[in-house]
Amino acid sequence: MTHTDKINALALETLLTAAVAAPSIHNTQPWRFGFDLGTRSVTVHADRSRSLALADPDGRAQYLSAGSAVFNLRVAAAHLGWQPVPHLLPDPYDPDLLATVQLTVPTAAAPPDLRTLYPAVARRHSSRMPFTGRPVPEPVVAEMVAGARAEGAHLYVPDILRTRRLLRVTSAAELRNATDKARTAESRAWIAPPGASPYGIPFTTARPLDAAGRMPMRDFTGRPPAPGRPRMRFERHAQVALLWTVGDRPRDWLQAGQALERALLVATVHGVRTSLLHQAMEWPDLREAMRAPSTRWCSPQVLIRFGYGPEAGGTLTPRAEAPPADRRVGHAVRTSNPGPPVPGDGDRRSPSPGTDGPRITAHRGR
Ligand SMILES: Cc1cc2nc3c(=O)[nH]c(=O)nc-3n(C[C@H](O)[C@H](O)[C@H](O)COP(=O)(O)O)c2cc1C
Repeated sequence: MTHTDKINALALETLLTAAVAAPSIHNTQPWRFGFDLGTRSVTVHADRSRSLALADPDGRAQYLSAGSAVFNLRVAAAHLGWQPVPHLLPDPYDPDLLATVQLTVPTAAAPPDLRTLYPAVARRHSSRMPFTGRPVPEPVVAEMVAGARAEGAHLYVPDILRTRRLLRVTSAAELRNATDKARTAESRAWIAPPGASPYGIPFTTARPLDAAGRMPMRDFTGRPPAPGRPRMRFERHAQVALLWTVGDRPRDWLQAGQALERALLVATVHGVRTSLLHQAMEWPDLREAMRAPSTRWCSPQVLIRFGYGPEAGGTLTPRAEAPPADRRVGHAVRTSNPGPPVPGDGDRRSPSPGTDGPRITAHRGR
C-alpha cells in the first residue's frame, strides 16, 4: 500500500484492529489505546484491571502481551505507508503509558520493511491442536530467530534432548497450576462458552490434551479436566523455541513481546502454526530451570511451540473492539467493564456505545 497523508478514522481502524489481534495471556487483552495528534502517535496503555494477580504478579506477561500489540501497530503503520517509530515507556511520570508508536514519513534510512508481515497479523492464531510432526525447515527457523533478534531478544532452539527437558519442566509447572486451587480459579475465570465474551478463551479452543502426556498443553480448568475434553496424540518430536532476553525489566518485557510477535508472524507467513507454553514462567524456580545453557544472562520469557497442522481447534479467540468514543484524538482508549468473562453472562464487559470520533488529518512533512 502506498503512503497515506491522512490519519483518518479508517487508518485508525486499521491500526487498532491490528493491535488487538496480538496474542495476550489468557486473551486478557490488557491494553488501552489512544491517539496523540500533536506527536502523531498511537499510545499504548496498560489496563491493570486485566492483570493476573497469581500467574503474573509482576505484570511481565502483561507487558509481553502489550509488546506484541506494539509490534502489530508497527506492522500496520508500515502497511499504511508510515515509518513507525516506537518509544517504550516514554513518560517516567506515567508508568501505565507503556509505549507510543509515532507515525513518521519514511526515509531512505528506514529499517527493514515490516509490511510483508501485515497479512499474517489477521491469520496468526494459537493452534493448540496436534501438529503433523513434519519438521519446519531450518531457513524458516533461522528467519524466526533473526526476527526476534531484530527486536532485541533471542530465540533458543534446543535439540531433541533439551526440548524434552524444557517440556518436562513445563509439565511440572502445569501440574502445579492444576493442583493449585487459587490459580485454577484465576485461569478458569478466563474460559468462557463460545460467543459469551470478547475476552478470555472459548473452552472449545483450549483443547485437546495430549493422550501420551508428553505435550504439556495448558489445561485452564484444573483437575479434574473439563468433562468431554478430548485427548489426542500430539507430535512425538515437538519443535520449540525459548524466547529470552538478557535483562528482565519492563522495557525488556516490552521488547520481548515485540520479538515474540515478530517470530510468530514470520512463522505464519511460512504457513507454520504456533502456540505458547508459559506455565513454567509462572513459578520462579521453574522459570530458572528453563534458562538456555551456556548463556550467563538469560531471562526466559515464553516457550513457543511450532509446526505444521490445523488452525486453532474450535472457535477462534474473540477480540474486544476499541469503543468508537475512545478513538478520539488525544484520548486513551478505555476498555470499560473490567474483569474476566462470566460464563453465561453474555458480553458483560463490552464497552458502552459511543459517538464516532472526529476525522484526524495529518500532513506529511509538517
Ligand atoms: C505472554 C503470553 C503467554 C501465553 N501463555 C499461554 C499458555 O501457557 N498456553 C496457551 O495455550 N496459550 C498461551 N498464550 C496464548 C494466548 O492464550 C492467546 O494468544 C490468546 O488466547 C489469543 O488467542 P490467539 O493467539 O489465537 O489470537 C499466551 C500468550 C501470551 C502473550
